[in-house]
Amino acid sequence: MTTTNRTEPQAPSRSEFAQDFLWGCATSSYQIEGAGSEDGRVESIWDRFCATPGKVRDGSNGSVACDHYHRFPQDFAIAQDMGLNAYRFSIAWPRIFSEAGGKPNQKGLDFYSRLVDGMLERGLQPWATLYHWDLPQYLQDIGGWESRGTVQRFLEFADVMSHRLGDRVKHWITHNEPWCTSMLGNFEGMHAPGKQDLHAALQVCHHVLLSHGKAVPLIRANVPDAKVGISLSLHPVRPASASAEDWAAMERHDGLRYRWFLDPLFGKGYPEATMNRLRHAAPDVHPGDLEAMAVKTDFLGVNYYFPETIQHAPGHEPLDARVLPPAGPDTTAMGWEVSPEGLSELLVRIQQDYNPGPVYITENGSCYDDAVAADGSVPDVQRRHYLMRHLGALKNAIAAGVPVKGYFAWSLVDNFEWAEGYLRRFGLVHIDYATQERRLKDSGKWYRAFLKTETK
Ligand code: GCO
Repeated sequence: MTTTNRTEPQAPSRSEFAQDFLWGCATSSYQIEGAGSEDGRVESIWDRFCATPGKVRDGSNGSVACDHYHRFPQDFAIAQDMGLNAYRFSIAWPRIFSEAGGKPNQKGLDFYSRLVDGMLERGLQPWATLYHWDLPQYLQDIGGWESRGTVQRFLEFADVMSHRLGDRVKHWITHNEPWCTSMLGNFEGMHAPGKQDLHAALQVCHHVLLSHGKAVPLIRANVPDAKVGISLSLHPVRPASASAEDWAAMERHDGLRYRWFLDPLFGKGYPEATMNRLRHAAPDVHPGDLEAMAVKTDFLGVNYYFPETIQHAPGHEPLDARVLPPAGPDTTAMGWEVSPEGLSELLVRIQQDYNPGPVYITENGSCYDDAVAADGSVPDVQRRHYLMRHLGALKNAIAAGVPVKGYFAWSLVDNFEWAEGYLRRFGLVHIDYATQERRLKDSGKWYRAFLKTETK
């Protein structure tokens, strides 16, 4: 792109990426759909968590959200106008099964069928995520992901969905960010179900990864030409100082944050040093589990937001290490460090460590306090710069040999940002929650201009 303003970051042009590169946006069911009790949807762990005082900063919930359940044709029209060729969404399990072991809910299935048709009509390749955190509450009541029985329930869900949508949906993501499901939800207690128990968290993690491994062959059996993978949230790590103690702390942290997920997925089992330290909270692992988890996938989804700087911190659970707040001024409204080079660094590292095959950036984006200007525009310069700079970093990673095949910006529209409620905006499209009016932000206009340039 040519720029006139010298303070503008350099961005690549679309023609510098492969012609078949996927350009999308990502969303998730609970964050945008609303229609919380319509057409037979039952309570999820997020409904329960939101109803618990003090858990969500503005006391809000996802019962209306962006009303995407009813307004998806408008949202897909915006996506098409932007020039996207792919769209990542997730399926709300509580819309599909209203009780454990029951029959699937026809209205829920029909909704996702219409949704997928809506994408295809607009030239958006559908990328379905099966689990983006909205577990049915009735399953949580009998142990949730801590219980091995939930693996079986997940397989039923995966079976029904891949069977129903597999004629049109070829790209499947089993889980979104197992670290959040397990550690944020069950150790840090910041997300649903809000537990603070390390053993529970590691057991949850084990069952989530196991359910992934078992779902992959099942989806392939239902959808012969399926491409199946998983999306992990990953961070490049840096030590707080050059001291040996901070380096060691960084390695301990990384053992749980990065290797605990990638090692078993790529056939190396749980990292031994980390397992030794966490032995007191180790998950129950059955014979054959590690083999199942290590099933070969068709791609790896990487969700990248920011790097982490790690400091030795005796007594800081669970590994005597803590993540420092960013030192520099370049942060988003979430307080996350802006580091495009962190993206290329992370991708190159994953490539060297695991050689995972095709990689997709299944989320990347930024939160800023947007304001609607008098002329109705949303001049989100910082988000636009964030996007431009991260696409530059992506190009560098590809040049360094990482086989990245697509990029999904988080997110299409502003939405329910979990424990932060509606206080945080990540969309390329602004939502006025009082009127449900949609406005393409300047970042979205930039993405549109980027996508409309000629490809090679
Ligand atoms: C994630 C979450 C998203 C968040 C985004 C910003 O996958 O991390 O899926 O739902 O909204 O990451 O925090």
